[in-house]
Amino acid sequence: MDYTSNDYLKNMFNLSNKNIIVIGSGSGIGRSASLAIAAHGGNLICADIQNIESTIKAVKEINSEVNVIPFEIDITNKSEIIKLMDEYDVIDGVVCTPSINVRKLLIDYTESEFDKVISLNLKATFNVLQASVKKMKLNNKGSIIAFSSIRGSVVEPGQSVYAASKAGTEKLVNTLAAEMAQYNIRVNTISPGPVMTPLTDQLRNDKLWNEAYTTKPALQRWAQPNELAGGIIYLLSDASSYVTATNLIIDAGWINVDGRFNPNI
Ligand SMILES: NC(=O)c1ccc[n+]([C@@H]2O[C@H](COP(=O)([O-])OP(=O)(O)OC[C@H]3O[C@@H](n4cnc5c(N)ncnc54)[C@H](O)[C@@H]3O)[C@@H](O)[C@H]2O)c1
Repeated sequence: MDYTSNDYLKNMFNLSNKNIIVIGSGSGIGRSASLAIAAHGGNLICADIQNIESTIKAVKEINSEVNVIPFEIDITNKSEIIKLMDEYDVIDGVVCTPSINVRKLLIDYTESEFDKVISLNLKATFNVLQASVKKMKLNNKGSIIAFSSIRGSVVEPGQSVYAASKAGTEKLVNTLAAEMAQYNIRVNTISPGPVMTPLTDQLRNDKLWNEAYTTKPALQRWAQPNELAGGIIYLLSDASSYVTATNLIIDAGWINVDGRFNPNI
């Protein structure tokens, strides 16, 4: 790739001829990512434990030209991840979204709740990261996106284990980015603010929680999952050729704007 050329500038967001795996494509941000990748010309595997068919249908509607493969997977099972990575000879991008949250005080957390959150959010993500780079290393290229959260940086009561899993994911990603730079593999996280997906139904069903989450971002609203897709396309494409070990915050100002008070000035 000649980064000084006009071709680079013209095609930097183009994903055609790239093979991309989206894990978590059945819902929320992963579903939007799948549609956006297809819209930008990428071939993709839509992987999830459930709901893949409706995503595949929507992908074909947005771009009937791209090659899209459904893949049912439980990423808490390492051998299934390895099978997934064998679907393509060359993998250009991997997006991994699955996570859960059990929102309760740390003092009340059971060991099995702790294990459930950590085994998906941190351990399965670790296994996806490891299997992805083993494959990408063979071709000296690739871009991987794992998901952190504003909770990887700032917390409220009830977020302990989820927050720890997200901060942990950021550190896995930063270290892997350092280890894989020599193979031209870029590894980054995205940290969303509040997004309207099934993961956050509990918050929107609670009047006060919903109000707090609507007014805290500087833009004063929840995100639609499609609003995360721009960051995903950016990190997968050549537009981010100089970006690795970064945490891309897409939070409408949640983390950096205090938001408690608007002085009358
Ligand atoms: N929604 C938000 O407000 C928000 C905020 C901050 C961070 N995030 C992060 O963004 C990411 C995506 O969140 P979302 O809101 O799109 O979630 P979501 O619940 O809408 O989608 C998650 C998808 O992962 C799949 N999945 C769950 N367990 C799986 C398993 N074992 N194997 C394979 N697939 C599995 C689910 O079936 C689902 O389709 C998560 O990592 C989440 O922590 C979301």
